[in-house]
Amino acid sequence: MYLLPLSLLLFLLCSSAEAGEIIGGTECKPHSRPYMAYLEIVTSQGQRVTCGGFLIRRDFMLTAAHCAGRSITVTLGVHNRKEKEDTWQKLKVVKQFLHPKYDRSILRHDIMLLKLKEKANLTLAVGTVPLPPQFYFVPSGRMCRVAGWGKTGVMEPGSDTLQEVKQRLMDPKACNHFRYFDHNLQLCVGNPKKINSAFKGDSGSPLLCAGVAQGIVSYGRGEAKPPAVFTRISHYRPWINKILRAN
Ligand SMILES: *[C@@H]1O[C@H](CO)[C@@H](O)[C@H](O)[C@H]1NC(C)=O
Repeated sequence: MYLLPLSLLLFLLCSSAEAGEIIGGTECKPHSRPYMAYLEIVTSQGQRVTCGGFLIRRDFMLTAAHCAGRSITVTLGVHNRKEKEDTWQKLKVVKQFLHPKYDRSILRHDIMLLKLKEKANLTLAVGTVPLPPQFYFVPSGRMCRVAGWGKTGVMEPGSDTLQEVKQRLMDPKACNHFRYFDHNLQLCVGNPKKINSAFKGDSGSPLLCAGVAQGIVSYGRGEAKPPAVFTRISHYRPWINKILRAN
């Protein structure tokens, strides 16, 4: 059993079709997801990687802890990451708050807050997304959405435009094969019966259910079959609130 951070997994997730449906996501209407941020990271080894993230306060983002690095630049208001627009707001991250219990070997507590150097300006293309309360347990069976600039094929670079796919929230049993899956800390996302229902996204991107960010893309299987594991945001509300209050 492989545990791959989903940025790697997305290399393996080719856009593919199943009967009557186009899988692999659809391009988002430009700027219809104003909380989405494109993160450019220089890792501690000096490599350049990208992640998704989302704005939760004018000066705070949420993403996955495995997206941490030596430096992070956030761009808000992006639709096509190769085509600069007036909607873009590029901001430096001044502090990365990894969850204190983040364990990279089993990808648990894969959540990180990012403090921005300045406040983002709220515009039609840039806005915040609400988080669930601490004790809200989003019911399985629900259809949610993941957006991101994730990889579209093995040899492909990431998608230039923001893509989005629907994903079903599964019963925790569907993630039994992930040895370190913990229902209290994580969400099991994506119907395993849809063998090739590839989704695009990117590590750190949010799972949106009825307009609320319930999960963060964390990891999946090497062979790219759904479901995948997302960090359950509601569990981390006390930690998030504490850091937001103090900063
Ligand atoms: C927000 O708007 C002000 C005034 O137009 C501008 O000076 C500032 O650079 C903007 N901030 C960002 C992050 O783009």
